[in-house]
Amino acid sequence: MHSGEEIGGYVLGRELGRGASGFVYAARRPEDERNDFAIKVLHPVFEPGGRRRDREASIAPLLTHPNIVQTLQVGTSEGREFIVMERLRGLPLDRLLRRRIGRRRLRKKIASRIAIDVLAGLEFAHQLRNKKGRALRVVHRDVTPSNIFVCWDGRVKILDFGIAKFSDDSLDTESGIVQGKFAYIAPEQGAGATVDARSDLWSVAVTFWEMLAGRRLFVDGNDVTTLRALISGQIPELKVPGRIEGRMLSVIERALSVAPEDRYASASRFARAIAQACPPASKADLAALLRARLGNDKDRKPWTNPLVELEPIPAPNASPPQLRTYLFVAVCAVALLLLVAQRIVGQ
Ligand SMILES: Nc1ncnc2c1ncn2[C@@H]1O[C@H](COP(=O)(O)OP(=O)(O)OP(=O)(O)O)[C@@H](O)[C@H]1O
Ligand SMILES: [Mg+2]
Repeated sequence: MHSGEEIGGYVLGRELGRGASGFVYAARRPEDERNDFAIKVLHPVFEPGGRRRDREASIAPLLTHPNIVQTLQVGTSEGREFIVMERLRGLPLDRLLRRRIGRRRLRKKIASRIAIDVLAGLEFAHQLRNKKGRALRVVHRDVTPSNIFVCWDGRVKILDFGIAKFSDDSLDTESGIVQGKFAYIAPEQGAGATVDARSDLWSVAVTFWEMLAGRRLFVDGNDVTTLRALISGQIPELKVPGRIEGRMLSVIERALSVAPEDRYASASRFARAIAQACPPASKADLAALLRARLGNDKDRKPWTNPLVELEPIPAPNASPPQLRTYLFVAVCAVALLLLVAQRIVGQ
């Protein structure tokens, strides 16, 4: 698909990026010019519809939180599955990190802010319950720097709950398949064993370590060597003199325990430990960093939420203001013509 094409009533704009599962485009709805969406169109290899799509569609409306990108629709059009989201303005964390590396590392307080915000979104998802109060036990399973978005106004959002699952979903036959990225997945996920909220905490810990260290944690070789190292519990040295030591090192070491039961019990506990070890920067500090980073970026526009930016519905019978103006001008013109005609006839 490309710019100008239509899918599910949305017209695709420019490509915002592409990943393993598909392409992401800016999009608008023709009747709603001001609206501003992002649409992920999945590759045709993803069989449209079915259980996975239903699961995504059922999780999406529940995931309404300031630190989670809002999914507005999950649909299928002509055999292609698509996911409509609010469009974010800013940078995915992987790009922010790439820009920093080689210059300076992220300040510790900034890293702490980003990690704490991601954990707030995850805590919300992990604690979700259905209407009857039963815990849904949602797990993201793919928390990586490319799935964390830093908006230019300093807000942090988690993307791609697409492969999230209800961990007790009896319909889920995919639990043995490794779907995350190897350098960020927890050992139990790599081994194809049961995952739960604590698997996401591992992924946040790897990301947090990388923000602080300014380099990748699992760098050696390929996915196979990374996976082997993970499953056998070989974690690279976590201490980075001057950056990751003392209290901060202990926090990361605990979150990167091979056994899930040795990690923090919840995202909120992990967030509290990070805040105590390193008080986070403010949202304004993060926004200032983004402003410095996005100085020349054409994507730096005010963020708009399509949900609140919807055109107000006009009151019944009320004509749009432009139409009223035309009518007024037309009536005046006719009156003037009549007046002139009357004078001519009278002469
Ligand atoms: N709602 C959104 N608003 C703005 N940009 C977005 C939005 N969703 C995704 N993007 C951008 O689109 C790009 C591609 O995202 P995508 O999720 O397809 O790839 P990825 O995260 O790099 O890899 P993966 O397929 O493993 O998730 C990323 O740069 C991402 O930041
Ligand atoms: Mg992604």
